[in-house]
Amino acid sequence: MPSIKAFVFDAYGTLFDTYAVAAAVEHAFPGRGDYLTHVWRQKQLEYSWHRAAMGFYEDFAVVTREALLYALATTGVKAAEDVIDRLVSAFDRLALFPDAALMLDTLSGYRMAILSNGSPEMLQALVRHAGVESRFERLISVDARRTFKPHPDAYRCAVDALGLAPAEIVLVSSNGFDIAGARRFGLRTLRIERVSASALGAVLADPQHVDARAMFMALRSQLESHGGIPDYTCMSLQEFAVLAPSILAESNP
Ligand code: LAC
Repeated sequence: MPSIKAFVFDAYGTLFDTYAVAAAVEHAFPGRGDYLTHVWRQKQLEYSWHRAAMGFYEDFAVVTREALLYALATTGVKAAEDVIDRLVSAFDRLALFPDAALMLDTLSGYRMAILSNGSPEMLQALVRHAGVESRFERLISVDARRTFKPHPDAYRCAVDALGLAPAEIVLVSSNGFDIAGARRFGLRTLRIERVSASALGAVLADPQHVDARAMFMALRSQLESHGGIPDYTCMSLQEFAVLAPSILAESNP
């Protein structure tokens, strides 16, 4: 096995908190912010999968907009174009997860990149807004091969951009489908668990807690093996920052 040369991070849901749009959604649609935010994100992912399977690519801003229209249609609410534009653009200003900020500070000397469904413009806007542009060697968008994760060509973008062999790259993600896609392509994988199976089980044990957020966690936060498991699992990016030196040392005896 070759030694690890670079860590490549998923953006949405791993480094950046997609739930950060909830306040803007709640402001636009009082009382429905939580519900709409979860349906929007889930549908955004589904639409990227549909489009990858159909070979019908359009950039992630378009997919994000269509997903929001779907979420709104489920409530029967009509929204003005400028409200839609404002909400879609909120995706360019997502907050970094606190553990991501800590991890980026701790691992500043490492080769790190982002590999994301986001368009090049969306990724530029995200890192600029968070003030972390200088931390990444490359912002790699699947746009280079006009498909979405977990299509194998999406992961090929990282190999092309970094000039490394698949096994020299570790894809770090908290999205189960992303881990599964990267693993099948041949990248090494590190899953950020965030919500353990037992923590989720404890939430769902009380029927009163089976709300939009619990549904989202159930659909989005558990391991999706598709015939394999990640090479490494950490509870958080902070734990990853602690373990990264030994992961590297182990791969390069
Ligand atoms: C991304 C999605 C998968 O950033 O979260 O690519």
